[in-house]
Amino acid sequence: QEEIISLAEITQFRSAAEEFNPFDWYRHHLEHEPISYNEATNSWNVFRYEDVKRVLSDYEYFTSVRTRTTISVGADNEEGHHNSGRVNLNSDPPDHRKSRSLLSAAFTPRSLKLWEPRIHEVVSQLIEEMGDEPVIDIVKSFSGALPMIVIAELLGVPPEDRFLFKEWVDHLFLPLPMDHIEDIQELKRQAAKNYYNYLLPHVILKRTNLADDIISDLIQAEVNGERLTDDEIVRMTMFILGAGIETTSHLLASTFYSFLYDNDQIYTEIQSNRELLPGAVEEMLRYRFHIAKMDRTVKQDNNVLGVELKKGDVVVAWMSAANMDQEMFEDPFTLNIRRANNKKHLTFGNGPHFCLGAPLARLEANIGLGLFMDHFERIEPVHGFNLEANLTPSAAGQTLTSLPVRVYRR
Ligand code: HEM
Repeated sequence: QEEIISLAEITQFRSAAEEFNPFDWYRHHLEHEPISYNEATNSWNVFRYEDVKRVLSDYEYFTSVRTRTTISVGADNEEGHHNSGRVNLNSDPPDHRKSRSLLSAAFTPRSLKLWEPRIHEVVSQLIEEMGDEPVIDIVKSFSGALPMIVIAELLGVPPEDRFLFKEWVDHLFLPLPMDHIEDIQELKRQAAKNYYNYLLPHVILKRTNLADDIISDLIQAEVNGERLTDDEIVRMTMFILGAGIETTSHLLASTFYSFLYDNDQIYTEIQSNRELLPGAVEEMLRYRFHIAKMDRTVKQDNNVLGVELKKGDVVVAWMSAANMDQEMFEDPFTLNIRRANNKKHLTFGNGPHFCLGAPLARLEANIGLGLFMDHFERIEPVHGFNLEANLTPSAAGQTLTSLPVRVYRR
């Protein structure tokens, strides 16, 4: 497994709340240190839009094959590896192409159309379960639940197994705190083992009971006569869990945080003109995204960014900072749901690894927020909410553990 680079040594945020609102840090770097070397972690950090885009997409110079990384997901036992020898997304073209094509069989526009009513159903159910409580916890009742249930549903996991599923997912994506790394590693190993042992028979059974779900799509996927084995399918789904659950949960929670605390006009504005919703989702993606960065490793000595990079150096590309680059976005630190070019954000990456799940994440956010707005005319913050006390480190950055909202039904 790769050696983990501690991001805290790079960012030196003084509080969880500062990490959740890292705008001053981005502003400082964009203006004064757009490319900086961090000695403690031996990494280069890149902030401006054009540079970040280049690092993410130019695989001749920046490889996704890593020995050190800022991303800690999965577990270090046999069952915990996302990649088999043959199918590996942490690779560059041309190798990457086969793995990517096999996985994209599950993310076609046709699949998306079929999923739409099922996502509707999941959202409606969650809203129904909110009953008529005047105050709801958005994280517990909505943002934290929706993406997990959607993925379980799309994988074709029986609904009664969702709780098991949730526990494994929670454990698999725990962050690795430097002080008790071994305990957490053990939890992750156990979760990976349980997940693997649960899903493998499920995949085998599916082979003779194909349905409209991701596992069936992966069973049928074929590239140049090659097909995925049962083992590879289980690993691929683990990769999908890692990529698709916490990210989408964060997008939803952070959107509600913005509605309540960044700009309290937006919710009403979208209510009165629903055509603003898709653009608002893009602006939320641009504005705050906890993963914030991706890394690459220098493949050959080069000077393409204007500094001497040596083969093996780690380069951290700060997409969330690039999303605040005024060369690209006017008045970047202001939330503006009418921004014409907000879809140009780099939150889903860029180049050959561009997020395969982006259409699904967008669909979940649009359906989720749309149905929520159908039901709740108005929302308000709950007095006394303390941001710092309601954040927790995730595998990637700070996420909200709870967000109380006062709701007014139609
Ligand atoms: C890749 C972000 C949701 C599946 C990526 C990458 C980013 C990203 C930045 C590029 C990684 C790199 O360049 O190394 C996000 C965000 C999401 C989201 C912000 C939600 C708001 C999803 C969902 C799924 C998914 C819902 C699937 C269910 C993937 C996969 C890849 C990927 C499979 C790897 C593609 C490759 O390496 O070729 N995502 N993601 N993502 N994402 Fe997402």
